[in-house]
Amino acid sequence: MRLYTHPVLDFDARSRKTIHFTFNGRLLEALDGEMVAAALIANDIAVFRLSERLHEPRGIFCAIGRCGDCSMRVDGIDNVRICQTAVAEGMVVQSDLSPEG
Ligand code: FES
Repeated sequence: MRLYTHPVLDFDARSRKTIHFTFNGRLLEALDGEMVAAALIANDIAVFRLSERLHEPRGIFCAIGRCGDCSMRVDGIDNVRICQTAVAEGMVVQSDLSPEG
């Protein structure tokens, strides 16, 4: 689910361009300027990784770049906090759930 307007904040995403990126090899759509984490949630992907010790599903936690729970490999760079990273056309995002590792 994606919000295009907000009832309180001055926010209107209806005019934003649609772009494409991949997550674990899957082609997805995003809105230009959207954070990667928001784009994943808009594509119904809420599990970003598994916890190290218990292998439990983890999604977005702080959403302000502090906890590191959303860290993924983006365009070959490890430990990118995707809640603070804008998606770009052709971006390659991989989690530890990725078969590509
Ligand atoms: S969700 Fe906490 S750093 Fe991204």
